[in-house]
Amino acid sequence: MDTHRDVIQAMAGFVEEQLTWLNPVGESWQPSDILPDLTADKWHEALQRLRHAAQGLSDDVLVVLVGDTITEEALPSYQSMLNRYRGIGDQTGASDSPWARWIRGWTAEENRHGELLNAYLYLSGRVDMRAVQVTTQHLIRNGFDPKTAADPYKGLIYTSFQERATRISHGNVARMANQGGEAMLGKICNLVAGDEARHEEAYKSFVKKLLELDAGGTLMAFADMMKAQVTMPARLMSDGIERDLFNRFAIVAQRIGVYTARDYADIIEHLVEYWNVAGLSGMSGESAAAQDYLCALGAHYRRFAERIEGRSARHPRSPLSWIFDRPV
Ligand SMILES: [Fe+2]
Ligand SMILES: [Fe+2]
Repeated sequence: MDTHRDVIQAMAGFVEEQLTWLNPVGESWQPSDILPDLTADKWHEALQRLRHAAQGLSDDVLVVLVGDTITEEALPSYQSMLNRYRGIGDQTGASDSPWARWIRGWTAEENRHGELLNAYLYLSGRVDMRAVQVTTQHLIRNGFDPKTAADPYKGLIYTSFQERATRISHGNVARMANQGGEAMLGKICNLVAGDEARHEEAYKSFVKKLLELDAGGTLMAFADMMKAQVTMPARLMSDGIERDLFNRFAIVAQRIGVYTARDYADIIEHLVEYWNVAGLSGMSGESAAAQDYLCALGAHYRRFAERIEGRSARHPRSPLSWIFDRPV
């Protein structure tokens, strides 16, 4: 008996209704809507404007932008992840099941993120594209273990968390780009953040349904995920030089406030509240323990966040390949 798979498959009708969280292709933005039109007579001027505006971006912002781009570019690992979940995975590659259509539609929307960010970085002339590309190749080759095994409950909780985390991160880069006078990058990151926000709502709605169908099992999966801690998708990235490249990226993101330990605590608190974990009645034994654990978790991480803030602010700077070995 596989309760988790059975519950997931019983949700098919509900998932069908949730497919409206995906935008029709004809109504979707495409990278070429935003980037300079290189077929236009004045392509050179448009490109000059982009390159000029990109001169205002600090090394710190460039580093988080590169890290965010590489994270998006490892999309094959995330589509593979979704296909591993029992009852969710696309059995043929073109299956008509609502879950399979969700996975493919989600992947197709996400695919524009890496493409747009990557093209922007390339045209900006501000970063070492070869080092960026090497890192992407390493990351896809090294893979990504979200510590969800093949459990669909954990998978949907993980993706709810992660979509919100990327929404926060891209949104903050957009704000910093706009403050630095780089409106095109601001627009790019806001578009991506808008997709992440829509995806977040969809994944959260799937988990909300899981809670209706199997509250105890869902709470235990949520608690297990949080005990293992949420692994970031680019954890295994490498440029072939740094011992722990992800950590370098994470420290800069923390220092400039693009994605911080406080955000981690906020996301946990948001999800616990959104899914009304405290208000679920009738829990006993392990599921009651999971409920108590989850309700106290946000405050726990918030205390932890202050210590991390101090530590990353004091972290010494050293060269990074992405920005031609300038120290960051
Ligand atoms: Fe994305
Ligand atoms: Fe996403």
